[in-house]
Amino acid sequence: MSDNHYLHAGPYDFAPTAEVGEDSARNEVDLLVEAIRHHDRQYYVLDAPSISDGGYDRLFARLRELERAFPELRRDDSPTGRVAGGLLESLPEVQHLAPMLSLDSSGDNDRVLEFDDRARRALGLDELIYVAEPKFDGISIEIVFEDGVYARAATRGDGYAGEQVTEQVRTIKSLPLSLTPTVTATLPAVLAVRGEILMPLEGFHAMNRGRVERDEEPFANPRNATAGAIRQLDAAAAASRPLDVFFYEVLAVEGAPLPATHWETMEWLRDLGLKVERQVERCAGIEEAIAYHDSLEAQRDDLPYEIDGVVIKVDDRQQQLELGFRSRNPRWAFAHKFAPREEVTRIEDIALQVGRTGIIAPVALLAPVEVGGVTISRASLHNYDQVRAKDIRPGDSVRVHRAGDVIPYVVERVDDRPESARPAPFEMPTTCPVCGSNVERDGAYFVCTGGILCGAQVNGAIEHWASRSALDIEGLGGKTVRQLTEAGLVTDSVADLYRLTKEQLLPLDLFGDLKADKLVEAIAASRETSLARLVYAFGIRHVGEHVAVVLANEFGDMRTLMAADEERLIAVHEVGPRVAHNVREFFGQERNRVVVEQLLELGMNPQVERSETPAIFAGDKFVVTGSLERFSRKSIGELLADLGARVTSSVSSKTDYVVVGENPGSKATKAEGLGVPVLTEDEFIALLAERGHTLEN
Ligand code: IVH
Repeated sequence: MSDNHYLHAGPYDFAPTAEVGEDSARNEVDLLVEAIRHHDRQYYVLDAPSISDGGYDRLFARLRELERAFPELRRDDSPTGRVAGGLLESLPEVQHLAPMLSLDSSGDNDRVLEFDDRARRALGLDELIYVAEPKFDGISIEIVFEDGVYARAATRGDGYAGEQVTEQVRTIKSLPLSLTPTVTATLPAVLAVRGEILMPLEGFHAMNRGRVERDEEPFANPRNATAGAIRQLDAAAAASRPLDVFFYEVLAVEGAPLPATHWETMEWLRDLGLKVERQVERCAGIEEAIAYHDSLEAQRDDLPYEIDGVVIKVDDRQQQLELGFRSRNPRWAFAHKFAPREEVTRIEDIALQVGRTGIIAPVALLAPVEVGGVTISRASLHNYDQVRAKDIRPGDSVRVHRAGDVIPYVVERVDDRPESARPAPFEMPTTCPVCGSNVERDGAYFVCTGGILCGAQVNGAIEHWASRSALDIEGLGGKTVRQLTEAGLVTDSVADLYRLTKEQLLPLDLFGDLKADKLVEAIAASRETSLARLVYAFGIRHVGEHVAVVLANEFGDMRTLMAADEERLIAVHEVGPRVAHNVREFFGQERNRVVVEQLLELGMNPQVERSETPAIFAGDKFVVTGSLERFSRKSIGELLADLGARVTSSVSSKTDYVVVGENPGSKATKAEGLGVPVLTEDEFIALLAERGHTLEN
C-alpha cells in the first residue's frame, strides 16, 4: 500500500493518456481507486483530511480520464460512480438477506426495567452487559457488500423486502464503496449490514434555506428530507443532498466469523471502514444504560443530527441467540425513547402578532399540549404563504413540533373534516391589528406601515435605537423603555428622548437621582455619532449595519440621503431594489422626515467616518472557521469589515470565501460541496497581498 504515491499529497506526474498502455492503465486505475478511497475515508469517516482539495480533484480527474479512455477498466467500486447517477423508471423490490425487524419501545423507565427483568430471568443471570447507543431518527437501510465491494442497498420496506436504492445510496460520501481489509480479520464474502441514513442538521437547514430562496417548499424535518433524497429516481438528485450513514447491526455474514459481542462487532465494522457512532457505551447493568439515556437526552439539542432515543442491546451474541424473538421484535434489544418532539393538537384560533419591525406574523393558538416535556399553547405558522400552502384554518387538527432551540411550529394539518365543516381559508388583514395603519406586502411578509406610531413597534424601535450597534445609549433597555412609553414621556418619536429632563424621570419607579442623571447624560452623548449608526438606528427594513455603512459612505450626510430617489439609491453598489424601495419609503413619509429634522435641531450631529482602507472585498461574504494563527476571531472580523467584507457564521451558496484554520470542521466540507473557495490562512494572506493590502508586522 505504501508504494502507492497517490496516497501522498502530490504533486503528481501523469503520463499523457494517449501514451498509456492498457496494463499500466489498469495498474494506475487500481492505485487511483485505492488512493481516493483512502482520502475519502480520511475526510468523510475520520474527519482528518489527508490531501488538499486541488490534489484530490486532480486524482479524480485523472481516474475519469483513464476510465473514459479504457471503459473496460472501470471498476464497480469506482468513486466516479458516485456522481454519475442514472435515472430509474421506478424502484425495484429486493428481498433482504435477513429480516429487518423492529424494536419494542417506550419512553417509560419502568418498561425498560421490565425488559431487563425478563431478559435476566430468561437467562438466569443477576446482571447483563448492555451496549447503549443513539437511536438515529433517519431511514433504516440494508447495505450488502460482496467480496468487500459495495453491491446494493435497500430500504426496510415491510421488513422482508424493500426498495432497491443502490445508486442513490452510492452517492453518500461517508459510505465506503469497498471495505478496508483488516490485519486481524478476513474480508467476508458477503456482508449485509443495517444502518441509518440521515441528514445532519447543519446541511438540512442550509438545504431548506436554499429551497426557501428558490421558492420551493422546505422539508418539515431531516427525516423527510432524507427519505425524499433516497427515493429519488434520479440518483444525481440524491447526490446533491448532504446525507450521512451510520451502521449498527450485522444482518448476515458469510465467509468470516462474527465477533462474540455486539461491542466488538461494532469495532470490527469500524475497522472495515464503515461509519459507526463513537458516542456509545458498554454498560454493566440496566441502571447504567438508563443513565446513558438521560445524559444523551440532555445533550440532544447539541448533537449534529436528530436522534429520538437510545437503543439498549444485550452485548453477548450467545445470550442474544438464547433470548431470540417475540413476533417481530428481538427480546435482546429495547428502544428507550426520548420525550416526543411532535404532537397532534387542535388550532383554536389564528392570532396576528406584530413584531418590532412591523412584520405581522400569523400565530396558531393551540389546545394546550405537552411536547418534549413542555406544555405549549402557541406555535408559529411562519407566514401567510405557509398557512395557505398547508391550508390551515381554525378548528383544524395539526402536528406541532418543538425542539430545544426552535420556537414551536406547526408542521402540517392532519385534519380530515369535510370542507363544509371548516371556516373560510385564512386571510391576512389589510390594516394593522394594533394601530390600524395600512399593511403592505414585502415578499413573504406582511408589514405594518405604522412604524414607530404603532404600539407594537414603539418599544422595540426605541430599544433598537439605543442598542449597542445603533446609538449605544447605556441604561435604556427594555424595562426602562417600557416605563418611558407607559408614562407618556416618549410617545411617537425618538426625538422625544432628546427632550427628556431629569425632573420628568425622577417620579418613575426605576429612577433614582443617579440613574436619572446618567440616562439624560447618555442620551445627550448619543448625539455625537456616526451617520452609519444613525441610519441603522432608524430600523428601516433590510437596512442592517453593513448597508447603513454603505449608505453613509455614499451620501455623506442625512439630508442628501433623505432626498435620494429610488433610482439614485439603486445605483449604489450593494444596494438592491428592496433596500432602495424601503429607504425611499421610509424617508418618503412626511412624519419620518419631520422626526429627522427634529433630531437635527435637537443637536444630533452625525459624522461620516471614512475608512482609510480601500474596500478591496466590497460586498464579499466571508466565513471563518477553525482556529487561526495570526488572527483572533475578533481581529479578522474587524479587518474584513474594514476591507468592505461581511463575515457571516454559516456557509451558503452566497458565501464568497471560507477561511479555514486548524480543526476546521464541517463548514469547510460544506463549502467544498457548494464550490465555495476555501482558503488556508496563508492563502488568505496571499490574497490580501495580491489585492494590495499588506499586514503590519
Ligand atoms: S437495532 C433488530 N440500533 O430504530 C434490531 N435500530 O424499530 C434492529 N434505529 O427501524 C434495530 N438507531 O431503523 C437499532 N442504533 C440503532 C438504531 C436503530 C435507529 C431504528 C431502526 C429501526 C427502528 C426501531
